[in-house]
Amino acid sequence: MAKPIVILGIFVADTAYRAARAPRMGETILGTGFKLGPGGKGSNQAVAAARLEADVSFITRLGKDTFAEMAMRTWAEAGVNPHVIETPESYTGAAYIFVEETTGNNAIIVSPGAASLISPADIDAHADLIRSAGVFVTQLEQPVEAALQALRTARAAGVVTVLNPAPAAPLADEIFGLCDYVTPNETETEELTGMKVETVDQARAAAARLMERGAGAAVITLGDKGALLHTKTQSELVPVYRVGPVVETTGAGDAFNGGFAVGLARGFTPLEAVRFGCAVAGISVTRPGTAPSMPSLAEANVIFAGRSSG
Ligand code: RIB
Ligand code: NA
Repeated sequence: MAKPIVILGIFVADTAYRAARAPRMGETILGTGFKLGPGGKGSNQAVAAARLEADVSFITRLGKDTFAEMAMRTWAEAGVNPHVIETPESYTGAAYIFVEETTGNNAIIVSPGAASLISPADIDAHADLIRSAGVFVTQLEQPVEAALQALRTARAAGVVTVLNPAPAAPLADEIFGLCDYVTPNETETEELTGMKVETVDQARAAAARLMERGAGAAVITLGDKGALLHTKTQSELVPVYRVGPVVETTGAGDAFNGGFAVGLARGFTPLEAVRFGCAVAGISVTRPGTAPSMPSLAEANVIFAGRSSG
């Protein structure tokens, strides 16, 4: 039986603009497309895991507005169990996403709104839920003190802990020491370690540094190179699953983390869980949007079993 997954994080409305290039300061350019949809790293990860038929609870704060309604609809459709602290004094956040037409690459500004008020006291109010998890996952879009308190709660109860340190922020060693897995991308790894991460060997060295800081293991996502699993006993590069033409890479990290968490919750080995995460991410980049691009379990299983990796 798969164990329950509990995720702490934020929901925002993603406003994605496609254009040939980003505007310069003071400049107006014409875009080639626009899409409004559900986003926020934590929510995307929860949606990914729920679409993979895991038992997923999501802790967050929302305002009382139309974007909050979008959040509730998104979770109901995906099968996420929401644990929302209503925050009418603030707004439900939004993200500006610039998608480069030719590559599908992105640059993002995220304003978390109500979710920036998530506090350690909010975590204490959900301590029983966190303790009941098999796997706990969080990111750094809500205040780091809340992530820290949640990781402490999970760790004390023997829950497997995953920190996706995105966006990168300066972190005390204590937080690394509470993580079974940290899952940064290349740039986040560079910011967390001060080391260059352009090659797989450099990623290995940086992963070792993250473990010196206290992480149990590191999984560094390396864009189209795949993902590196680095533990005390193994260091394996899992290549990306090439499923089809890349449309939009936004949310690929969330797809990976959602899939990885599901793998762990199902009792896969760490390497199999990383492979599963890569399969899920490989599908998500062939579709527009973040949460809407997360595959179903049936879709993920086809790619995962097909081993069309590399
Ligand atoms: O990881 C992608 C997500 O980061 C987007 O959905 C956007 O909302 C930002 O939070
Ligand atoms: Na996508």
